[in-house]
Amino acid sequence: MTGNELRKSFIEFFKSKEHKHFESASLIPDDKTLLLTVAGMVPFKSFFLGEKKAPYSRITTYQKCIRTNDLENVGVTPRHHTFFEMLGNFSFGDYFKRESIKWSWEYITEVLKLDPNRLYVSVYLTDDEAYDIWTKEVGVPEDHMVRLGDDDNWWSAGPIGSCGPCSEIYYDTQIMGENNEEINSKPGDEGNRFLEIWNLVFTEWNRLEDGSLVPLPEKNIDTGAGLERIASVVQNKVNNFETDLFTPIIENIKKILDIKEEKISVSVKIIADHLRASTFLICDGVLPSNEGRGYILKKLIRRAYGAGAVENRDIFDNSLTFLHEIVDAVIENMKEAYPELEQKREYIKNIIKSEEDKFSRTLKSGTEILFEEIEKCKKENKTKLSSEVSFKLYDTYGFPFEFTKLIVENNQMEVSEEEFNIKLEEQVKRSQDSRVKNSDMIKDEFVDKFYKENGKTLFTGYDTLNDYGKVLHFKDLENGLYEVIFDRTPFYAEGGGQVADRGVIKLDDKIVAEVKDVAKKSDVFIHYISGDKLELNKEYTLEVNKKIRNDIKKNHTATHLLHKALREILGTTVEQAGSLVNEEGLRFDFSYYEQVSPEQVEKIENRVNELILENLPVFINYENINDAISKGAMALFSDKYGDVVRVVDISGVSLELCGGIHVSSTGEIGLFKIKSEQGKASGVRRIEAITGYKSLEYVHSLEKDINDISNKFKTSPANLLPAINKFREEVKVQENTIKDLQRRLVKFEINVLTNEAIEINGVKVLVKSFKDKDVNELKDLVDRAKDILKSCVILFGSNNEKAVFVSGVTKDLTSKYHAGNIVKNAATIADGNGGGRPDFAQAGGKDGSKVKEALEKTLEFIKGI
Ligand code: SER
Repeated sequence: MTGNELRKSFIEFFKSKEHKHFESASLIPDDKTLLLTVAGMVPFKSFFLGEKKAPYSRITTYQKCIRTNDLENVGVTPRHHTFFEMLGNFSFGDYFKRESIKWSWEYITEVLKLDPNRLYVSVYLTDDEAYDIWTKEVGVPEDHMVRLGDDDNWWSAGPIGSCGPCSEIYYDTQIMGENNEEINSKPGDEGNRFLEIWNLVFTEWNRLEDGSLVPLPEKNIDTGAGLERIASVVQNKVNNFETDLFTPIIENIKKILDIKEEKISVSVKIIADHLRASTFLICDGVLPSNEGRGYILKKLIRRAYGAGAVENRDIFDNSLTFLHEIVDAVIENMKEAYPELEQKREYIKNIIKSEEDKFSRTLKSGTEILFEEIEKCKKENKTKLSSEVSFKLYDTYGFPFEFTKLIVENNQMEVSEEEFNIKLEEQVKRSQDSRVKNSDMIKDEFVDKFYKENGKTLFTGYDTLNDYGKVLHFKDLENGLYEVIFDRTPFYAEGGGQVADRGVIKLDDKIVAEVKDVAKKSDVFIHYISGDKLELNKEYTLEVNKKIRNDIKKNHTATHLLHKALREILGTTVEQAGSLVNEEGLRFDFSYYEQVSPEQVEKIENRVNELILENLPVFINYENINDAISKGAMALFSDKYGDVVRVVDISGVSLELCGGIHVSSTGEIGLFKIKSEQGKASGVRRIEAITGYKSLEYVHSLEKDINDISNKFKTSPANLLPAINKFREEVKVQENTIKDLQRRLVKFEINVLTNEAIEINGVKVLVKSFKDKDVNELKDLVDRAKDILKSCVILFGSNNEKAVFVSGVTKDLTSKYHAGNIVKNAATIADGNGGGRPDFAQAGGKDGSKVKEALEKTLEFIKGI
């Protein structure tokens, strides 16, 4: 059975047991306590905890997952992956142990037709119920059963939350170890003989912060069967990388890297694994960056590139890129199960290529830095490269430790892997801390509890700007703000890039408080207000500020039009990469790999305005997600949508899944004006634009500026350009005149100056002090004076805080007078030193106040020569 057939057969099997098939959710979980979707149950966490009611009591999925905790093992062991898929069947308050056990056995033995003699089962130490079902009802012999403890047979998605005992099904690979040492081993023991292929979790407990277990409102089932492992068993392979989930990708890698050996090297496995993970991460909206998921992605791409550069030195030496070429093989292999990959093929390749480009440059500069460090060590007779350097190379420059080690060892030096790893662990901890911070912000036990007791807030703001709301919760935040939850509200809570509404709260037509912000957590709208305290259970009038709301909605609809225009003009590789919509304007980030020319910006702006001037009606429809997507509605793959989605349809021109507020026809938007277009990150560009009154204000202010400038030029706006050109011509003429005058002035000054020369012993000597002339100006003066006086001795000094001296002696006199000695004499008096050639020298002194004295004394010195 192929990987594709396996997925299908699993889903079909559970559909036949009345399960509803859900598409794989995004790798970016809704649950903000997790960076990535790490298990098949993650998208359903709130159903498990009873926070939300599951729409179906039986669900089945094949779910894309990523785990990065064992990154270093990938490619080294037969089973470790970052990206993997989990086949799962879930029950929410429906069937429990008996059915889940029996169906898993039925699927394995009757559909996959695995030999029951090679199957073993573990149950939790005290779980007699499961033990009995397996032995008495399914008929698994007792010598194929083991009871295991908390480490193996208790499953939870984290330290707190839903959990329960589990039961695992193992396949005996009959790999007994090199010296047959596994001949007597059992499931749960070390070694490769028993391969866990399916985990059935009997989720009936909720672990609280204090560690205690409380029963969940309903008993649930969460099962997970690793697709890659099952494929290896069904396809009779000892290594997951040899299954058809990998072979086409691995063949492609070998071809591109020109690898002839039959054996699949660790590097090739790393590339195959990391590239699958990177392809899916990018498809779900992650971009390489230095934090969180972006950091994981960047690391995966760079590790894969490094692995390729180790395999093929040409890549390293010539900074070649190759990973993006392998993306096609990944997509071909996976697109049947994940059609979204096909839509984003070029986008994914571009992101990977641009990260490869960056990293290849990094490798080059990293190598240079490393060689400098090695040279330094050699000079200092050190034989060990410090881990400060090896980690900095890795952390700051992304230079893989393996390369550092290779190059260092080639230079007969050493570098400690252990010390490097300690630094790495500290770094990992920092990244985890950032995750905790994130979760701290969002994870809100109070809201979870509130939701369970009161349900969601009824949002009426799509239809009205005024409503009555009863206070269900009120808290003084002691920072001048109160936190309030009403039973219903017309206030939009920040979401989908659109900021929250603002407005007032009234009682008997009198304003009692102001709404500053609104946040939405688990469909509960939390208002942050200032003003009077509100009374619990009392009803207030909630009034959204119409002016702000109107400005916001113009910008939101304009954002959809801009998205449309960008795809029309720059092509469909443009993907939304973030947006902000508020009353001031809109900001739209999108993927694009080239510069956007001013002509293209103008075209985009024109196209949006064209759609505005057509005054297209905007329709809001609620549709089934599949219908909406098949009609071509744009959805952000990083967002999670329910079955029924809200579609914003601008007369068929633009269709987007969106929960935001929009104008009813595009004419309301007014003038759409782009204020800036610029690069934001690698492959991501940003447009900032304004609409409505803001663009009118903008035009007015431009107009005012032009009028003011015209007045200054004493002309009308229509004649401003010729007036400016004329002005510039005049300025040019004046500048030339000034230059000419300056030249003449200098000449005049020099003439005056040279007249001050005195005769000493038949030689013309010119000694003079200046203020605030720098050494270059003095040198220039010395040269000019020499030209005029022809035969002379000159010493100039200037006082600019410090003292500077320049002396010149014409060649005919250097046998007697030495410019170097002359400046030295002067500088010494001004607390300095210096010297130089016989014909020309300069020197400085610390004491600027001594310039005059120094010159007088040096004149005496000259007289004495
Ligand atoms: N959540 C369990 C696991 O990940 C079973 O799906 O193993």
